[in-house]
Amino acid sequence: MGEGSGYGKVILFNEHFVVYGIPAIASAIGSKTIARVDKTEGTGWTIKDERPETPGYKKNKMDHQNDSIERILKAAGIDVNQTPINIYLGGDLKAASGVGASAASCAAIARALSVQFNLGFSDERVNEIAYEGEKGYHGTPSGIDNTAATFGGLIWFKRGDPSFIKRLALKQPVEIVMGNTGVVANTKAAVAGVKERKENEPEKYDKIFDEAKELAQKARSALEVHDLQTVGQLMNKNHELLQQIEVSSQDLDFLVKLARDNGAHGAKMTGGGLGGYMVALTPGKEVQEKVAQAMEKEGFEALITKIGV
Ligand code: MEV
Repeated sequence: MGEGSGYGKVILFNEHFVVYGIPAIASAIGSKTIARVDKTEGTGWTIKDERPETPGYKKNKMDHQNDSIERILKAAGIDVNQTPINIYLGGDLKAASGVGASAASCAAIARALSVQFNLGFSDERVNEIAYEGEKGYHGTPSGIDNTAATFGGLIWFKRGDPSFIKRLALKQPVEIVMGNTGVVANTKAAVAGVKERKENEPEKYDKIFDEAKELAQKARSALEVHDLQTVGQLMNKNHELLQQIEVSSQDLDFLVKLARDNGAHGAKMTGGGLGGYMVALTPGKEVQEKVAQAMEKEGFEALITKIGV
């Protein structure tokens, strides 16, 4: 049997903008997906997906998952007609929109295949294969999710050929709360919506994209000196920009405001948007608890975790 894992992630700055080469910042979180691969009889592959989920996620993403696994097997050079396999998915990362669930599963499967078939994949190779797998879910992913899922830590990511990835140092891990709207979102559609609006309103979008670019540099500097007040304020500003490109939602805006009202240094939607998760920066256990409880009181699930782990 081969086993491997992939980290869940949170995008702290510039999801969507990252698709167009604007730098973005993401971090692994404390939850993971575990994959196991076993050789079996017969032909082809099967999957047993036992990850916890936002209701409806797995069913909704079933076609994407099938496409993704075919792509992973092709990229890894495995012919399941010769060597049929069973794939198992588990771990404590929820199968949900906005936490990098698809990327974490792709990295985990690539690693499990490497172990099972003695392929000796480096992290770089795992990342390449996970990127191929992500195409099954996103169409044309920027690569930020699979990079965070594969390498972990806090990363600065700029899409390109090749993409530029730099690990950022955080003085110590920082508490965050991720609020789940419970809505299964379609990242492909969200990305396509931005593309269409950007083409229709180039002047408006160019201005917003320039602001996002400037914000990324400021956020990086603030993170590097551990100035969490400024990081929070910049997250708030980033949320405004994401609202302007129309990828937020009523539930996301509600949770963002709730987190700020309960003491978060800053809050924003995270990931593809139109549902999924938001993230609140809540340094210290006390404010983290307070924000999480406020969300739960309103009927939303809150994930208590850290960045820079
Ligand atoms: C999704 O987690 C992040 C997006 O920026 C898409 C991508 O980067 O591929 C919305």
